[in-house]
Amino acid sequence: MNALIAWLDHRTGIKGLMHEALYERIPGGARWRYVWGSTLVFTFTVQMISGIFLWSAYSPNATGAWESVYYIQNQMTMGWMVRGIHHFAAQAMVVLMALHLMQVVIDGAYKAPREVNFWLGLVLMQIVLGFSLTGYLLPWDQKGYYATRVATEIAGATPVIGAEVQKLAVGGEQYGHHTLTRFFALHTGVLPAALVGFLALHIYVFRRHGITVPDPNRAPTTTFWPDQVLKDAVACLAVLVTVMVLAFQFGAELSAPANAAEAYSAARPEWYYLFLFRFLKFEAVEHFGLAFGAIYVPGLLMTILVLMPFIAKVKGGHKFNVAFLFLIAFGAIGLTVLAMNEDKHNPSHQAAVKEALADGERLVELADAYGIPEGGANVLARNDPKLQGPRIFAKTCAACHRYDGHDGRGSPILVKDSTGKESPADPTGTDLGKYGTREWSRAVITDYDTLFAPLRNAEWHKELVAKPDSDGLNLDKSEMADWVKENRETLLKPENAEDLNALVEFLTSQADRPGETYDAKLVERGAKIFEEGTLTSGSLSVSCTGCHASIPAPTPETKLFFDSKVEPNGYPTLAGYGSDAWLKHFIANPGHGLHYGAKNQMPAYGGQFSPHQFNMLVRWMVGDYYKPKKEHGE
Ligand code: HEC
Ligand code: HEC
Repeated sequence: MNALIAWLDHRTGIKGLMHEALYERIPGGARWRYVWGSTLVFTFTVQMISGIFLWSAYSPNATGAWESVYYIQNQMTMGWMVRGIHHFAAQAMVVLMALHLMQVVIDGAYKAPREVNFWLGLVLMQIVLGFSLTGYLLPWDQKGYYATRVATEIAGATPVIGAEVQKLAVGGEQYGHHTLTRFFALHTGVLPAALVGFLALHIYVFRRHGITVPDPNRAPTTTFWPDQVLKDAVACLAVLVTVMVLAFQFGAELSAPANAAEAYSAARPEWYYLFLFRFLKFEAVEHFGLAFGAIYVPGLLMTILVLMPFIAKVKGGHKFNVAFLFLIAFGAIGLTVLAMNEDKHNPSHQAAVKEALADGERLVELADAYGIPEGGANVLARNDPKLQGPRIFAKTCAACHRYDGHDGRGSPILVKDSTGKESPADPTGTDLGKYGTREWSRAVITDYDTLFAPLRNAEWHKELVAKPDSDGLNLDKSEMADWVKENRETLLKPENAEDLNALVEFLTSQADRPGETYDAKLVERGAKIFEEGTLTSGSLSVSCTGCHASIPAPTPETKLFFDSKVEPNGYPTLAGYGSDAWLKHFIANPGHGLHYGAKNQMPAYGGQFSPHQFNMLVRWMVGDYYKPKKEHGE
């Protein structure tokens, strides 16, 4: 062994090198405050290793990137762990870098003769930020896609060269596939090479001047090995454990695949850029334009950082530098807290974040169930009623209707009053969240007036009430509402509870929802009451078929009850009420004689929606979409 080492040393001089590396003198003894640099080198090593694993499965293209990350996250052995580590170690690097910078400035390690090394450190800082900026895009999910879009727009705001820089980063005029390939090249090629190069210089220059020691007489002088190495190792271990715990606990998020056609209102940059994001939103900052807030101000702060070694030469300069750095740190922390707090109290943003999370999970669910089609995961998204239905509803129907109180996508619908204060807008149509359920049917026959009360907010309804002789769906004159008022007490008698259940079951069964079963006995009993109106105690003032047309019994071939050959009789048809076919027919033309006829107040959508849109909307409304097993019991 000794002979081997001697041979190697003779050929390479390794002993001297090792000696020099390990026995660097540390006047005043090993200290915890010197560990930051080592933890950064360590974290970068973690990033290289985990990065190479990710690289081995990643595919940088617009219809394969998300899909390959889905694979890493959900199918590759330990892939989620590697991705989680890479994700959180990246954030750890930013934090460690901030701490390293603080320590260097506080200890005066930036002063002559170490200016050059300080500047090298600032360059390294830019490289690390470049890593996180480019890495954010690589999963090619909505989150990264929209955040990076903003980042490239900021680059475009740079004076003089902005347009060219943006074009270079984006890879042409259009933000898309080539942006991804460029960012990938930067992230895995240019930036790592630059970082390794500058890091080597940084360490070389650092060794030339040695460590900056605030008080050399604090303790006896030691050497790097073993005292400082031990402290560094403990610190690195602490970083690693923190990163692993975070990766284990939270993992890295993967939102829905990037989709240029679909705005993403939950977009925010990574948390350590939030302060800048918030800063740009100040009215005063906005007033001066994007270049002012995103380029000039940060540029000025960076310039002061760069000039710090010179400022330190002036009397009181060092104190100024330290104060300046603390000011920036507190400013950034303050703005970050402000931004997070505002988001927390913004219901629309909260809803968007919740939806984004749910969308991401839904895509994974679909990919697990169906595999990923040739056109990429967005094909799955486009054909999923659970994803598309709410979007159509929010865009079109929520102008009047609500869905469990929101717009279908979870956002409240707000109006601004003259002072700019936001409050919930009054709906002018029913809340369709429970549409087609037993709850809905029960409400129709026992509480029609309350269920339809939102109609009273509509202008047309106010006009009808003002002119009582005009035709229309006037709740004050509604036959259905009157009938319910008249029969409510009878229906709610305890003796008739089972009759009411039967009627509800019968009406609900018309929707014949996928995955839903209806109690055949109750349905049969309900059909009879619907027709005849006789209850256990007494009978209804008029049976349902006193107005509504009879519902033909279903045949085995036409399990579908709704049949457009049913003759209009001036009352809404209840055959197939709430089913896929009934809904499509109704939404296409609610003024049809089979529905509300002349009374109708709802726009007809027959000519507006493509068959695909109709399908997505209605299949979502009736719950006809893929549900993973675990959800069935809910
Ligand atoms: C301009 C307001 C308005 C819009 C927009 C609107 N509706 Fe309606 N909708 C109504 C009104 C009013 C009624 C009550 C009956 C009528 O007038 O036809 C109604 C009735 C319904 C009903 C029958 C249940 C009930 O409440 O009577 C369904 C189902 C329905 N709408 C679905 C939709 C869907 C789906 C959309 C979007 C594609 C939509 N509506 C868009 C106003 C609207
Ligand atoms: C006196 C006539 C009359 C009777 C009896 C009657 N309805 Fe109605 N129903 C109407 C009218 C009219 C409407 C349309 C709303 C309006 O103008 O009041 C309606 C609307 C409805 C609707 C909503 C249709 C839609 O498009 O959303 C349902 C459901 C319904 N009735 C169920 C029943 C059931 C079930 C019974 C028996 C338990 C019944 N109705 C008894 C007249 C009646």
